[in-house]
Amino acid sequence: MPLQGGVVQRGSGIGAQAAGNSTVRSADARNLVQVMLDGLPAKRLDRDTARAGMPSYASLSNAELAAIANFARTRWGGQPGDISAAKVQSLRVDR
Ligand code: HEM
Repeated sequence: MPLQGGVVQRGSGIGAQAAGNSTVRSADARNLVQVMLDGLPAKRLDRDTARAGMPSYASLSNAELAAIANFARTRWGGQPGDISAAKVQSLRVDR
C-alpha cells in the first residue's frame, strides 16, 4: 500500500515509504500536493521490472487534500501542518 509510515511493502512493486521520503519531508509542500493532484505514471524499469503508478486525487476537495498533506507532513515529515486549502488551490492547474 502507498504511504506507509515505517513499512516498505517488498516485492509488490507498488508503494513508497513515507517516513523519511524526501517529498514528505520537504519544507516546500509543492511536490507532495502535486503528486496527489496529478498522480504518478506507471514505469517500466527494465524488461522484468515495472513500477505501479499512483492515481490522481484531484477529485478530492482542497480542504481534504490539505488535511492529508498535513497529516503526512506532521506524522512522517517533521514539518508543520501548515498547508491551507488555498495553497492546494494555487497548485491546481486549469482550474
Ligand atoms: C492520497 C493519499 C496519498 C498520498 C498523500 C500519496 C503520496 C505519495 C508520495 C509523497 C509519493 C512519493 C513521491 C516522490 O517520491 O516524489 C508517492 C508515491 C507513490 N504512490 Fe502515492 N500517495 C497516496 C495514495 C496512493 C495510492 C492510493 C496509491 C496506489 C493505488 C499510490 C501509489 C503510489 C506509488 C506506486 C508510488 C511510487 C511511484 C514511483 O516511485 O514510481 N499512492 N505517493
